[in-house]
Amino acid sequence: MSLSKNKTCWPGLIQAYKPWLPVTEKTPIITLHEGATPLIPARSISNQIGRNISVYLKYDGLNPTGSFKDRGMTMAISKAKEQGCEAVICASTGNTSASAAAYAKRAGMRAFVLIPDGYVAQGKLAQAFVYGAEVLAIKGNFDEALKIVQEISNKYPVNLVNSVNPFRLQGQKTAAFEIIENLGNAPDFLCIPMGNAGNITAYWMGFNEYLKAKKSNKLPKMMGFQASGSAPLVNNKKIENPETIATAIRIGNPVNWDNALKVKKESNGLFKDVSDKEIIEAYKLLGKEEGIFCEPASAASVAGLLKIKEEIPENSNVVCVLTGNGLKDPDCAIKNNEAIFHQGLSAELETIAKKMGF
Ligand code: F0G
Repeated sequence: MSLSKNKTCWPGLIQAYKPWLPVTEKTPIITLHEGATPLIPARSISNQIGRNISVYLKYDGLNPTGSFKDRGMTMAISKAKEQGCEAVICASTGNTSASAAAYAKRAGMRAFVLIPDGYVAQGKLAQAFVYGAEVLAIKGNFDEALKIVQEISNKYPVNLVNSVNPFRLQGQKTAAFEIIENLGNAPDFLCIPMGNAGNITAYWMGFNEYLKAKKSNKLPKMMGFQASGSAPLVNNKKIENPETIATAIRIGNPVNWDNALKVKKESNGLFKDVSDKEIIEAYKLLGKEEGIFCEPASAASVAGLLKIKEEIPENSNVVCVLTGNGLKDPDCAIKNNEAIFHQGLSAELETIAKKMGF
């Protein structure tokens, strides 16, 4: 059977949304069949907020490498391949590097990734290794890494695949299309974590394109959340040494700064910070009550919603974007849970039954 004849499988987002994306017949499509992630009703969180407010979770941690970055990467790598590039580079807090490595390798390219040494979650580092990236860990933070890769890509024949690459945002906007298709319209509010602010920019682009095409008849208010120790957009001030448990969004000088402010203004939205404690509370709540394991940065969207819930009018619907999978950061999970964990038990039925309370 020809490899391209798998007709039952979701084709990946470039095939699915071709007319909406800057691709041509000549573009080689590099795909891991990303996209089409579920929009999951969050019953427990909706009940907690009350007032007939419906909360949904866009679980983008179910993409092939476990984060929303795959949406942008299928586009960025396909276009890089089309242009004949042989190597790509990115700075990353972990997810971009995992995704860039997977797609670049699938396209037969080299993948260089610059990461802040010691600040990338274990699962993400493991992915970069397994996908065969060339990993360069620097004594510096994400912002410093991004500056270096921007200069390197200007000087040497390597293609930059951070979210300054416009094809990334084109791919990422498809998440907004999927939400509109699932709900039959745009939601009233979109809650989203912000790091470099590429994703909030991409979602806004997607919502606007579908409105223009009359596939929806409203736009959501865009609610962007940052960790308190890394909240340059909330405070409108660069941060030299950003800190947060949510290492994915440990960014002090976002490249999409102006775009983010534009989104906030145009959507009549709001930016707010959430503390690490609030992030972890939301992270645990999602696991224990909704059965959803996301990474800490993703839980910032739910922490933010819980913080501003009084500002949401009754009968509204809200989508919280869960950008990454919980398995990315096992250390955080092991340190932050209320699990009942009895260790070293003898392998006897009576002992086990007793521990179970029988
Ligand atoms: N959530 C997760 C899980 C992320 O990995 C990131 C960004 C964001 C949210 C923020 O998205 O930058 O578009 O505002 N991670 C980048 C990386 C920086 O290198 O993986 P943004």
